[in-house]
Parts: sequence; structure tokens; C-alpha cells
Amino acid sequence: MSADDLIRQVDNLGRVFAAEIEPLAGEQEIRNAQARYLGKKGTVSQLMKQMRHVPAAQRKRVGSVFNRVKSSIADAVAAKLRQLEEVDKASDLARTIDVTLPGRQGAIGRLHLVTQVWNEVVEIFSEIGFEVAEGPQIDTDFHCFEALAMPKGHPARDMQDTFYITDDVVLRPHTSPVQIRTMTSQTPPVKIIAPGVVYRRDDDPTHSPMFTQLEGLLVDEVVGLSDLKGVFLHLIRRFYGKSLEVRFRPSYFPFVEPGVEVDMQCAFCMSGNPACRVCKGTGWIEISGAGMVDPDVFAHVDYDAEKFTGFAWGMGLERIAMLRHNVNDIKHLYEGDVRFLRQF
Ligand code: PHE
Repeated sequence: MSADDLIRQVDNLGRVFAAEIEPLAGEQEIRNAQARYLGKKGTVSQLMKQMRHVPAAQRKRVGSVFNRVKSSIADAVAAKLRQLEEVDKASDLARTIDVTLPGRQGAIGRLHLVTQVWNEVVEIFSEIGFEVAEGPQIDTDFHCFEALAMPKGHPARDMQDTFYITDDVVLRPHTSPVQIRTMTSQTPPVKIIAPGVVYRRDDDPTHSPMFTQLEGLLVDEVVGLSDLKGVFLHLIRRFYGKSLEVRFRPSYFPFVEPGVEVDMQCAFCMSGNPACRVCKGTGWIEISGAGMVDPDVFAHVDYDAEKFTGFAWGMGLERIAMLRHNVNDIKHLYEGDVRFLRQF
């Protein structure tokens, strides 16, 4: 093969290579193409072997053409790879966040229905001068029973199915121990409410082992059941937004005398409609236990029962929440199903 033939062929290979990598878009493909030409067994290297047929005087000229073609192939590869990198960078940029778009809204939580009712009821009582008092959820037998005129062995202790931790320490089964804690730490007049969680060994559609009560206590020189009635009228008229009536029915709690159950007029049928599922046609709904503080309780806290009288009540907050929203199973309040809770 003549020197000129060889030069033509090498030049041709350079042009073919340029055309071959032009459409390639992947780094690996480009490198493979490079190897097919410049690799040990590549087409350029194969052609180089023809050099031995070229007369010695011509070799330098031919060799420089080989070098030019090889470096043009290497340059073309480098340029092609740079170009790929630019394309990648550009598409990365196109993917970046558009900060002018509105953000995705996170789910907004809200207060649990019982907490809403708790806050609302505290607000309603504070309008008529009641202050919030607190006590521990784990309390002593003395505060939960003894000082409330239920000595050990008293049959009324069975009214609350209490969780005992030791013989003298319990999960409070009602908020009434806060009455005792308040009276042992302050002198009359006393005017408090004590909302709080209580525990009982109880579990059915209207009872949960943990629930929420709101205790109330008012002690002063001249206090009667009529005042208690006024307090309840204020509560239910504000809470239900209707002019509902209140009635007392005689009942028994060891720490009050007399003891009553407080009923409110049925807010759903108003009149005792026989078809009403809420009041079952009676027209009344029981909402609280209450009564005049028993002198025996005053004796436990060193209050002068000759000088002071007082009333107390304890009501379930779940119950009035369920009544207001027509919820028929207390479990709904504690299962944590957001589809239910979201409604409130
Ligand atoms: N502590 C009583 C209960 O849980 C309710 C109550 C409180 C009754 C205050 C009368 C006075 O059942």
C-alpha cells in the first residue's frame, strides 16, 4: 500500500469516527466507540500495521497524519463527553424546586373533642367566679375515700370500681379528692372547679376505664341547693345555647347530705317525645351527681360546720360532649380514629 493510500484511509477513518459518535448520547457508548478505533485491536491500530509497507522516507509524513487523526478522535470524544455533562447539568437545573409555587399544606391538628369541652366548660364556670383547682391522678385512700366519709369497709366504696396500687394508694376513681385537697389547703370561702382524668374498672358503650370528670365545690356562710341549681342553669344554658330547665332528684353519695342527681331538660326533643333516643321519652337527661357537703367531710378538713355550708358536684365531661354531638359510644372518643375526631 502506498503512503498516500494509507493517508487517505486514516483520514477517512477520522471522518467516519466523527460521524459515528455524533448521534451517541451515553458515556459508555462513546467510550466503546473510542475503543473500537483507538484500542489495541481498534481500526486505527490495525491500519498502523500497514506502516511497515511504507518506504522509510515516507514514514514520518504518514506517522504525523496518524497522530493528527488519533488526537482528533480523542478530542472529539472529550468534546462529546463535555457536551453530555452540560445536558445533564441543564436537566438537573430544570428539575430544581420552583420556590414560587405555593407550599404543600401540612395536616393541621386540633384539640380533641373532650379537651374542647373541658376548655369550654372551664370558661363557662369562670364567668361566674369559679377557679380551677388540681390534684394528682394517683392519690391516697384518705383523699379519695376516708375524708369523703367512706371509711374502709364502707359499702359505698363499691360505687366506684377502683384500681388499687397499694392498700393506701389508688388511681383516683373520681375528682372528689380535689375537694379535700382544696379544703385542707385553704379556708372558706371556697369556689373551685376541678376538671381531671379519673379511672375505674369499667368498660362498656357508656363507660371507659379512663374518663374525665369535672368536680365543683362552693363553700361559704350561706349556701343552699338553690344556688347549685343556679350554677347548673348557667352551665347548660351557655353550653347548649338554649333555655333548658334543670331538676334535682334525690340520690345518695356518702359525702353529701342531701345528695341529688342533676337532670337537664332533653336538649334534643325538649319535651319527652316517646321516640327520642337520647332521653328515652322521659324529657330529662342525667348529667351530674351533687349535693350539700356532709358535715362529716367538713370535720375531716377542720371546717366549722356550724358556720359554713357548701355544695359539691361531679359530672362526666365525655357524657356532655356525647350528648351535645350525639355520639353513642364513648369508645369513639378514645380510639384515636381521625376520621371521627376530625368532625369536631
Ligand atoms: N364523686 C361522685 C362520683 O364520681 C360524684 C359527686 C361529686 C357526687 C360531688 C356528689 C358530689 O360519682
